[in-house]
Amino acid sequence: MPIPDSSVPERGRPAHHVDGRVIAQLSLVQKVRLLTGADGWTLHGEPTVGLRSVVMSDGPAGVRGRRFDRDNPSSSLPCPVALAATWDVALVEQTTRALGEEARARGVDVLLAPTVNLVRTPLSGRGFECFSEDPLLTARMAVAYVRGLQAVGVAATAKHFVANDSETDRRNYDARVAESVLRELYLAPFEACVLEADVALVMAAYNSVNGAPMTANAELVRGLLKDEWGFKGVVVSDWSATKTTGPSARAGLDLVMPGPGGPWGDHLLTAVRTGLVSEAEIDDKVVRLLHLAGWLGAIGNGHLPSQESSPSRVDPTLLRELTARSFVLLRNHRNLLPLTTSGVRRVAVIGPNAVAPQKQGGGSVRVFPVVRPGIIDSLRGALGNEAKVSLYQGCLTWATIPAPTDGSLIDPVSGEPGVRVEVRNASGATVSDAYLPSSAVTWWDGLPDAVNRPGTEVVMRANYHPKTDGGYVVGAAGIGLLRVIVDGVRATEAITLPPRDTVEALSRPPEVRVPVRLEAGRKVELRFEHYPDVRGREGFVTMRLGIAPEPDEDRLMAEAVEAARSAEVAIVMVGLADGTESEGYDRETLALPGRQDELVTRIAAANPNTIVVVNSGMPVLMPWADDVAAILQVWYPGQAFGEALADVLTGAAEPGGRLPVTLPRAEADSPVLRAHPQAGEVVYAEGLLVGYRGYDRKGSTPLYCFGHGLGYTDWTYESLTPATVSISADDALSVAVKLRNAGERAGREVVQLYLEGPDDDASRPLRSLAGFALVHAEPGQTVEARVTVPPRTFARFDAQLGEWTAHPGTYRLHAGRSSRDLKLAAEITVGRR
Ligand code: BGC
Repeated sequence: MPIPDSSVPERGRPAHHVDGRVIAQLSLVQKVRLLTGADGWTLHGEPTVGLRSVVMSDGPAGVRGRRFDRDNPSSSLPCPVALAATWDVALVEQTTRALGEEARARGVDVLLAPTVNLVRTPLSGRGFECFSEDPLLTARMAVAYVRGLQAVGVAATAKHFVANDSETDRRNYDARVAESVLRELYLAPFEACVLEADVALVMAAYNSVNGAPMTANAELVRGLLKDEWGFKGVVVSDWSATKTTGPSARAGLDLVMPGPGGPWGDHLLTAVRTGLVSEAEIDDKVVRLLHLAGWLGAIGNGHLPSQESSPSRVDPTLLRELTARSFVLLRNHRNLLPLTTSGVRRVAVIGPNAVAPQKQGGGSVRVFPVVRPGIIDSLRGALGNEAKVSLYQGCLTWATIPAPTDGSLIDPVSGEPGVRVEVRNASGATVSDAYLPSSAVTWWDGLPDAVNRPGTEVVMRANYHPKTDGGYVVGAAGIGLLRVIVDGVRATEAITLPPRDTVEALSRPPEVRVPVRLEAGRKVELRFEHYPDVRGREGFVTMRLGIAPEPDEDRLMAEAVEAARSAEVAIVMVGLADGTESEGYDRETLALPGRQDELVTRIAAANPNTIVVVNSGMPVLMPWADDVAAILQVWYPGQAFGEALADVLTGAAEPGGRLPVTLPRAEADSPVLRAHPQAGEVVYAEGLLVGYRGYDRKGSTPLYCFGHGLGYTDWTYESLTPATVSISADDALSVAVKLRNAGERAGREVVQLYLEGPDDDASRPLRSLAGFALVHAEPGQTVEARVTVPPRTFARFDAQLGEWTAHPGTYRLHAGRSSRDLKLAAEITVGRR
């Protein structure tokens, strides 16, 4: 981050002289106060030096603001792995610039994004929030992300430093990773954020690395990040991650979040007074915070960041285009896609993710999204009035009974679709009684803060109007005592226990279910009484009330198969359900939940024109892959899901994505699968052989390899120059790849370079991504992709010497369409320094 050198308090510009004078005006007590948050999302101001409070908010797939806000929804971006699937750094930077403008309009100074951990295992609950399994692709995306945000004066936070690559027991595990592996893989994206993008903050992770918690890891935080890389910004703890006073303060952590309270404050004052932590160390932290505040324009004008009533948002057209470019066309047998819009009359859209499309993964990344046209409406719009588009569920995947989406759950007081929520304190007095539009709520999207006090009772009430006679099931979810009362009669009561990670409570709270028989048109009164268990979990109260007809999956499936049989095209939308993939826990299996594999197989048997749309953040198994006509991986696409899908299916847009992660054929093929800590340790035993590097070394064939993705045109790779060259170990290498659009429509191609050699060391990858470039060409046009390969590509980290050393020899540089579709090669001889 630029060192402030002027006194103009304008955001995004160097803004304040932080010199001895400002520090000298602050007492030790004032200084220490600044080093812990004022609350969950804001920092303390200090009026005596004109410092206002700084506001933080979660990302990376949008800007939430301080809480979910239904009246002020946020732009919802494709999840980061989808951003990386575009391989388009310019587009990502353009998007995060716009995201930065939205953050500013929401009064947000610091975005807690991007997540630059690597996808070490496809089961990682938070893999969708990372960019890729490859450090180079991750670094390029991360740098673009940070530059876009910071260009408009919003501070970015590279998180979670470091080796927070899985979620199981994330607050406690110790990642055991060799130093060379850390340097070459896991640290590389952080290094790029610091050295190339001047990232403003780095967030210290929950986990430990090689024995020391990351909030108190002197070697990596002070030694590497600050001393070696020269990071001048603020190291903030992950939320509630800091467990110590002296060790964390001495190791280089600057800011403890959230506040108030926590292990610093008075404890830190005492540590300074007793000489355990020096005042110079405190001053260094304060200087960093003041630099940040100066850069944000938070010193000198004293005003809170303004919050506009109707904030600027990311242009929906930009998001629609970006989203289409993130979709990866994995298979396109007989060129079924794009659909010819004029010829298609009957389209059956089938599957649990067609009924409940998953736009976002779970956890702190979630926003309350801007609503755009849905899948069915978008398809109808794109296919025209002649086409009949119908929707079938096929099978069920939900983890908790969903609330009906047709407005049939009604607040008994206002008569509006939604619920009534009354909060009573421990003495039984009503502290709040309000209408809420949704029966799935948490403290941060509508429940008043009072729910966090022990002894509180929350009563949710709604009337339900069934449309058919028959068996139904009511679900009530939360943590603590749950009681369900149907038409005044207590139906069930249970106590549920908190999951290990607080965020899990929000993403998939435990549920009780009650079967009921209902008559069409006869209203039923539902009452859900909840005594939340808030011990040590303030701020994580969640409640969900759902009701649905008792599922008859055989019937749902039979209907879907019948519909597919009589349609010209079947679009089967499968994937993960709400709560399957989330921060706070890892998935247990790569298999699709429920009977989705059976559904796809039966639909494909009924209709040869079956297109499968896979709606998941991380890889899922596709045992039916060779039996269907087309497969499109769409990740969590955010608000533009429907629009972008219709564009891609009908050819208005080309699916531009290439896989940033390998898709395995079988679980056992994945180089790393379960990352459950053993005796508290997660051992990175695979070393450098993560993702495609592991598959290549083992010689195993993935279902779809890293870098794979078909567009709607064909490409002929013509030349790679220079074909042979000798360079010195200090030189960057410039290469040019000529390629021709050999198809019939304009298209985009991601030209990928992979480096192999110079020797064959079994502990090292056979080849790794060395660069990439994006080209666009009209049919028949030849274009040139230019890529610069930096000298670091030819170096390795020597743990003995503790430095990067050049590795001379003769390498092969491949250019191709994916990590397994290599078209051209050059010979590069690297000399000594
Ligand atoms: C997550 C962070 C997030 C923070 C604040 C933590 O649990 O790991 O990524 O920024 O919460 O919501």
